[in-house]
Amino acid sequence: MPSFLCLLLSLQGAWAAVIIQVPSSPVQAGPHSNVSLPCHFSLDPPRPIDVDFLIVRWSLRGKNIATFDTNITVFRPRGAVLDATRLPEGNASLYLSDVRDEDAGEYTCFVLHTPDSAEGKVALKLEAPPRLTLGPTGVPLGKPSTLTCTASDFYPDGVSVKWLRGSETLKVDSPPAKRGPNYLFYAQSVLEFTPQISDAGVTFSCQIHHRAVKDPISQDIELKVVARPELHMLTRPPGKTFLVAECLVCGFYPQNVTVQWLQNGEPIQAGIYESEFEQNPNGTFSTGSVFFPQQGHFAASYTCQVQHEALEAPLEERIPWEPEALGYFGSPMTWLLGSLGHLVGLGMGIGATLMYQRRRAKYKQAEPNDQTLLKKTSKVRRENPDDVFVI
Ligand SMILES: *[C@@H]1O[C@H](CO)[C@@H](O)[C@H](O)[C@H]1NC(C)=O
Ligand SMILES: *[C@@H]1O[C@H](CO)[C@@H](O)[C@H](O)[C@H]1NC(C)=O
Ligand SMILES: *[C@@H]1O[C@H](CO)[C@@H](O)[C@H](O)[C@H]1NC(C)=O
Ligand SMILES: *[C@@H]1O[C@H](CO)[C@@H](O)[C@H](O)[C@H]1NC(C)=O
Ligand SMILES: *[C@@H]1O[C@H](CO)[C@@H](O)[C@H](O)[C@H]1NC(C)=O
Repeated sequence: MPSFLCLLLSLQGAWAAVIIQVPSSPVQAGPHSNVSLPCHFSLDPPRPIDVDFLIVRWSLRGKNIATFDTNITVFRPRGAVLDATRLPEGNASLYLSDVRDEDAGEYTCFVLHTPDSAEGKVALKLEAPPRLTLGPTGVPLGKPSTLTCTASDFYPDGVSVKWLRGSETLKVDSPPAKRGPNYLFYAQSVLEFTPQISDAGVTFSCQIHHRAVKDPISQDIELKVVARPELHMLTRPPGKTFLVAECLVCGFYPQNVTVQWLQNGEPIQAGIYESEFEQNPNGTFSTGSVFFPQQGHFAASYTCQVQHEALEAPLEERIPWEPEALGYFGSPMTWLLGSLGHLVGLGMGIGATLMYQRRRAKYKQAEPNDQTLLKKTSKVRRENPDDVFVI
């Protein structure tokens, strides 16, 4: 609510007066919009308003706009509304539609309640403050990106934009304004940068100065830096009768990720071994999930599904599986610990290879008695009484 200025412009003796209330600050309206110029009045000492004693006159630069004197008369060519039914409540507000440059200026709201009178001044400015939008919130790690700050629906032309990262000024800009279909202006300023891990969670702001506002308008975003996971599927031995499948999920940020194995769209609970997270030199994360198909199952296809906020839809890779012919008593570990040369031969991405190399190094350490891995694996296997693998 604007603060109201009490004007006591007419005191006809100490015993009676008309008190007028009008906004103390100018009323703003964009071109071709409709606007109400508030003017409220009361009598002092308080008593009911008698319209038979009332004259109201709105004028701009000495010319009448609308008057009430028994009846309402409108002088403004494009019309104006002075609502006679509101006058007994002391509401003499004026409604103007389709305001234009010539409507701007200082209006006088004059009220005579015989024999007392008063007047108030209401300034109308043809101005509209900008609305701000800033985005996007999520940007890809390490890829040239842009943030766009859009100032829209402002009038008149002319904005200046300041970009901040935290409290540090990055850029000052005076983007050219274009006229929109609603006669108002809009302008865009673009910040180009390559997001780093250090930008994650940092507040970026766009500040706009425009003459319709005393203080700059500001919009903030807390930057989300994201990197899409890559999925690499490995099976050992290669082919449909694999004993172990590993789903490697590489190069994602932030760390929160969901890796699931699905069969016919349903998540599988048993026979899954999840790797720990590893942080890559570029700050992204990698992880993996190993799956041992259950002996005794029928042929099926298994899907590794990755959910991460950098993905619009889950990332999936499906592999067909058939049970090994009877009589195979090899250990899945043999395949899990398969040679590095063999892995490179599969044509994996560098990230996956490095990750695998590191993981393999860990397994290698445990290899003399395979204690670490066996412990983890048997933990999974205990949850699954149907598992008939023998290690
Ligand atoms: C006000 O309007 C009424 C009917 O609309 C009319 O009879 C009357 O003469 C008008 N009075 C003045 C002062 O114009
Ligand atoms: C005064 O009247 C105008 C319409 O003429 C209305 O929009 C406004 O809400 C009224 N003010 C109050 C305080 O009732
Ligand atoms: C302004 O008023 C006119 C007529 O009074 C109406 O046709 C128009 O829809 C109004 N415009 C807005 C934006 O309210
Ligand atoms: C992690 O991601 C899942 C969906 O992928 C989401 O439901 C969950 O709220 C996220 N957790 C956090 C802490 O961001
Ligand atoms: C970060 O490194 C990983 C492997 O080290 C790679 O897969 C990923 O593409 C890299 N991501 C970016 C954004 O540089």
